[in-house]
Amino acid sequence: MDSRINEEHISTPVNSPLPDIPLNTTSTDDDVLYAHLNPTLRADAALPAAVRMELIKHGGVIEHKAYRTAMDYAHWLLTQPLGVAPMGMLVTGEPGAGKSTVGNELVRIGQGRVLMFQAGGARNMRDIYGRIIEALEGLVSKNARTSDRQHTVFRLFRAMNIRGLVADEIQDVKDGTQREHQQVLTSLKMIMNEAKVALICLGTPESDQALRIDKHLKARLRPFRLPQWQANQDLVDLLGVLETSLPLRRPSELRNEQVLNYLAEVSEGSLREIMSRIKCAGVRAILSGEERLDLAGLKAAEDPPPRPQGLESLR
Ligand SMILES: Nc1ncnc2c1ncn2[C@@H]1O[C@H](COP(=O)(O)OP(=O)(O)O)[C@@H](O)[C@H]1O
Ligand SMILES: [Mg+2]
Repeated sequence: MDSRINEEHISTPVNSPLPDIPLNTTSTDDDVLYAHLNPTLRADAALPAAVRMELIKHGGVIEHKAYRTAMDYAHWLLTQPLGVAPMGMLVTGEPGAGKSTVGNELVRIGQGRVLMFQAGGARNMRDIYGRIIEALEGLVSKNARTSDRQHTVFRLFRAMNIRGLVADEIQDVKDGTQREHQQVLTSLKMIMNEAKVALICLGTPESDQALRIDKHLKARLRPFRLPQWQANQDLVDLLGVLETSLPLRRPSELRNEQVLNYLAEVSEGSLREIMSRIKCAGVRAILSGEERLDLAGLKAAEDPPPRPQGLESLR
């Protein structure tokens, strides 16, 4: 089916550190036993059940088509020489489509050169600079004036050689008055111009409308859309990556019409729902010894896996 599946589709988990993984030295046996998995991930299938369940729960970032398209452009923006008028992008998608995942990955890849902040609830320039300084882990004095905050942001951006600013939940800027709304957009434009950073806005589809009142800013943000998933080839490709990367010991059977229709329907197109169903089914498959995913396993995974005996509190 999908011949493009390889390790490049998977990168490290988004937010949390992986558990300690013991070294595995039986790679030749693994190649025979776990031939259904991506060669670089076969050793994972030999790990103890508890470790494999943690790996599944943590998950990894899958470089699906829309994700890759957005990340390619972000990379292009972030590697422009200094001095070139900075540009930006607007990544939209319904809740759970993977927008913050894009932002978190940019921060991770940016190694200190990309900063992300929550635009939601910011009403004016002073709020925007405050949010950014908070994100820089600086101390924001409650009384600092807008001009002081602005100065601090530009100075810190220069000192830290910040190249990209990710504004998450950008649709929320339209919740303020028209004047507040305009002020927030003006401050973002000023940051782009003065601090010479690429601006990466993330938000729901309403973001487009939220940015429309500043034509100059909008013209500088190339639009990208993260999809609502349907029973089509893109979903086949996504499931192909999962079949070859989840550390299950037997080959899964996900790329068929029934599974595609079922997942598209129960998730209502949300990648968060698809991933959460797959993760739950993966953990259940390890606990039951089934060690593979199929339609029945996905259906049963509407409920969480059975709670281990004796688990009284979370560690
Ligand atoms: N590229 C991806 N690869 C794997 N899982 C993803 C990806 N994008 C999103 N997810 C899953 O969907 C969940 C929601 O993603 P998130 O980025 O928070 O969505 P949004 O910000 O659009 O609401 C994530 O916690 C993760 O489980
Ligand atoms: Mg989000």
